Amino acid sequence: MDALYYLGLLVSILIIVYQFTPNRRVQHKDLPPSPPSLPIIGHFHLLKRPVHQALSNLSNKYGPIFLLRLGSRSTLVLSSRSAIEECFPKNDIIFSNRPLLPSQKILQYNYTTIAAPYGNHWRNLRRFTALEIFSAKSLQMSSDIRTEEIIFMIKHLCKRSFEGGVPRKVDVKSFFYLLDFNIMLKMVAGKRCFEEEELDLDETTKGKLDDLKETFGPFLNMALGDYFPYLRWLTYYGVEKQQMNIHKKRDAFIQALLDAHQNNNNPLMTSTVPGGEISRPIIDVLLKLHESEPEFYTKDVIKGIIQVIKAHSLPDYSSDMARTCSVTQYLAFKKARDEIDNHVGDYSRLLNDADLAKLPYLHSIISETLRVGPVTVLPARESSEDCTVGGYHIPRGTQLWVNAWAVHRDPALCIESDRFKLERFLQSEEEKQGGCKFLSFGLGRRVCPGEGLGMRVMALSLGTLIQCFKWEEVKDDSHVPIKKTNLNKQSEERPVNIIFRPREALTKSFLSIQNNIPVEKKMEVYWCNLAIVFFFTLFLLKLFLQKHANTKKTPPTPPGLPFIGHLHMLKQPLHKTLHQISEKYGHVFSLQFGTRKVLVVSSPSAVEECFTKNDIIFANRPRSLAGKHLNYNYSTIGFASYGDLWRNLRRFTTLELFYTSRLAMFSGIRIEEVRLVVKQIFQDASDQDLKVELSSKFMDVAFNIMLRLIAGKRYYGKDIVDEEAKQFRDIMWEYQQLSASSNLVDFLPLLRWVDFQRVESRMIKLKKKIDYFMELLLKEHRTRRSKSALQLNDQSDTDKGEMKKTLIDVMLSLQEKEPELYTDLNIKAVILAMLIAGTETSSSTMDWAMALLLNHPEKLERVVAEMDAKVGFDHLLVESELEKLNNLQNVITETLRLYPPAPLLLPHESAEDCTVCGYDVPQGTMLFANLWTLQRDPKLWVDAERFMPERFDGGEISEGYKLIPFGAGRRICPAAAFGRRVVGLGLGALLQCFEWNRVGKEDVNMEEKSALTNPRAQPLEALCKPRQPLINHLLAL
Ligand code: HEM
Repeated sequence: MDALYYLGLLVSILIIVYQFTPNRRVQHKDLPPSPPSLPIIGHFHLLKRPVHQALSNLSNKYGPIFLLRLGSRSTLVLSSRSAIEECFPKNDIIFSNRPLLPSQKILQYNYTTIAAPYGNHWRNLRRFTALEIFSAKSLQMSSDIRTEEIIFMIKHLCKRSFEGGVPRKVDVKSFFYLLDFNIMLKMVAGKRCFEEEELDLDETTKGKLDDLKETFGPFLNMALGDYFPYLRWLTYYGVEKQQMNIHKKRDAFIQALLDAHQNNNNPLMTSTVPGGEISRPIIDVLLKLHESEPEFYTKDVIKGIIQVIKAHSLPDYSSDMARTCSVTQYLAFKKARDEIDNHVGDYSRLLNDADLAKLPYLHSIISETLRVGPVTVLPARESSEDCTVGGYHIPRGTQLWVNAWAVHRDPALCIESDRFKLERFLQSEEEKQGGCKFLSFGLGRRVCPGEGLGMRVMALSLGTLIQCFKWEEVKDDSHVPIKKTNLNKQSEERPVNIIFRPREALTKSFLSIQNNIPVEKKMEVYWCNLAIVFFFTLFLLKLFLQKHANTKKTPPTPPGLPFIGHLHMLKQPLHKTLHQISEKYGHVFSLQFGTRKVLVVSSPSAVEECFTKNDIIFANRPRSLAGKHLNYNYSTIGFASYGDLWRNLRRFTTLELFYTSRLAMFSGIRIEEVRLVVKQIFQDASDQDLKVELSSKFMDVAFNIMLRLIAGKRYYGKDIVDEEAKQFRDIMWEYQQLSASSNLVDFLPLLRWVDFQRVESRMIKLKKKIDYFMELLLKEHRTRRSKSALQLNDQSDTDKGEMKKTLIDVMLSLQEKEPELYTDLNIKAVILAMLIAGTETSSSTMDWAMALLLNHPEKLERVVAEMDAKVGFDHLLVESELEKLNNLQNVITETLRLYPPAPLLLPHESAEDCTVCGYDVPQGTMLFANLWTLQRDPKLWVDAERFMPERFDGGEISEGYKLIPFGAGRRICPAAAFGRRVVGLGLGALLQCFEWNRVGKEDVNMEEKSALTNPRAQPLEALCKPRQPLINHLLAL
């Protein structure tokens, strides 16, 4: 109404202004159709409430693609699926911008929230949210929070229903609001919004809830100043003022959360989830990132992220969920309940996240709720350049409105579209139609990243309510009765009151809910107090030590020679030499390698200090010839300096390769490769013991797995003889030789002048070969992509489609969307890094593990016995079984303790002066963490030199920093889980299928060779015989 009021006053003045405006638009002849307009205001007068309905009426008259002129902004309106498909994905990048509406500047923290214009800033925010909040792993980690909050609310409902004998009605809309606010705040800040005593919604709590709804709910009023810039001064007192007030409230709310977290680094705010990972409130993650990247994670950006998460959380959907409850309860809830009971079984437990995928009926309720639900017109986009849509010319700067409401109700797409009809999802009606028929979460690049979270919260809350209660709707006579079949005519504000009666069959569960929680809470408080006392004591101790320490100290160092420093002392293997020095000079000492200062640390406390307190300072890698020539000028993830490039590469690899669901997706490749080697050994073996050279087999498995992930190729194995494979193997061999040679030129730059040992010229030659090969791979993939239908499948998210894609395919399709980030150079650098870092590390671990087991047959028997008991003989080992094979896991851990593939980690370098264990360490110091000393320290390990996998039987692996085979801190190996899976599967399969023995009576030689990944000096040989109980499976391979 504000809008019409102002317009009435001003229209006559503006007509005069308009007459004198020189640059009135010259209409392009191919513009989309448009209704007749009024001077100045254009089509503003046509936007009657509800806007989506008005737009649908216009589209009936002017077609699914039409143009409106709203003051100074041209607005393209799309209202049909075909029109939208015409526009997306063809013009997706062009329409990936959001219009910079002046009124939004403050609400959007100067356009720095995720609603920011399309570009680097937006991409970084998007990656952050995708990784930290919405990735499969993060969702899995936050699932406990959702379950806990739902139980909290259910418990309250139970309690109330048992009280006083009088049935109490519950306003479901408020129920969903309370639940959703609690879940979101718990995820964001680690605490609830509404505590138990507030759940009955007295007047004060109602006020608090309304206030939150207003503050974080969607803001729907249009600010005229956005469309009539010269009227901004007037509208400043209307809609913009309301926005300003809302902004102040939001900002104060978020600031209070931030203050609380900054001042209170409460260890209990984190919780450990199964698998040992820490689920931290999002604020803490952001504050941590603020410390490391203050220039990107500014306070405004942090507030913007929190605001978006809170504002876009589920309360948007609460009204619709409530309406669904009313509409469907009699028709559908019985079936949904049966489905849940059938799936969950004996009523002994409540629904959880893992059940949801198996409940199609429940899903259809949620999907239909969303179809008829809250999304009307999608948030506006703006074209960044001229383009065409449906054959019409669309000029740059045109605002785009997609009328999702019209699409969702299009009778041509949805039979009986105005009915709440679950069958349409059960019969996969939408799948038959395909394309972008349902737009509840938007589409294209700007699609809602929180779809997975949203669906889970809705399904879990509704599902648990259905599972636990019988429902009875209480009709409120003061309102017009609801007409159940016609959704469009329902009143939005009609409350839906339900009496929830606990189901008898689940009473047991309710009781356990009620009894267990307080006990858990008591334990929490106990641990909380203990932790606070512990950390406080540590803090005091630290203060005390700092006060008494002499801060101006350099670490101890052996006497050196002029010019070369300690270079003359360096014998290979380097970690053993450094170990000997540490025996004399302690766990923190320094060396001088030619021009470079080196710090060597080997105690848990020193390592911890380097990778926690000084983690950012040591997150750099030193410059080296190998980094320059063999790593695309420091562009690979392992050699890149700490900064934007490294962060982008790291995010990309984490998301595309190493996060849980991707890992699972590629398990087929790992199994196939491992089984191929098993088959090969089996074919060579007879009943007699066969002598097998295992080292090369482990190499074959590790390389082929990586190659298939990256490029869909297999280059290793005795059956592979083609020229391309040979070329690749030669390149890798040469790479290993060159990187392994300790490169004096890195320490004595003068030697570069004489091309000492021709290292540099050999590297340059090899670099050309590497690049040529990488180019070939890219070219081949590009050609294949353009020929095949892969491009079309890019939109498909099915596991099958994803499985077929290689990492190169994924990167090439990302290149189409973000060419400036996914340059050819970056793609080649990712491929190279994966091949170097992801192959020998795993193969050398398998090699050492097998050698250790051969020397300790009793430990080998223990592993096999466990495998026989837990896996049995009716199938070959699969990845999902690895978790339960504790003895096998312990063998891998013990191998990584004794023979870590990177015994000095990769070298780090300090970016500024710092202190380590009280010693001054200048900027530019190279850091080696010597795992050989650390992980064999007799003060830390019982019988430190002995191979004793059983030492981990109690699961005390991650105690302190005494075992870090994958590194620590920011540059920790991103593929630890991946590596362990490859090693576990490779080793496990060989142990399951064959009997293994040493070739002679003597122990296997355990000498190391000086090379990149600490490999064995001699290739490993062993005698093997197929195991009889598995013979049929082996024959079937
Ligand atoms: C048993 C197997 C593995 C072990 C023991 C291992 C160990 C390590 C270690 C110690 C580092 C250096 C950490 C530091 O400098 O602080 C590292 C870095 C790295 N690893 Fe692994 N790794 C393994 C498997 C893999 C696999 C399979 C891949 C890839 C597919 C991989 C990719 C990387 C990358 C890209 C880096 C560099 C990270 C950076 O600089 O940011 N690793 N790994």
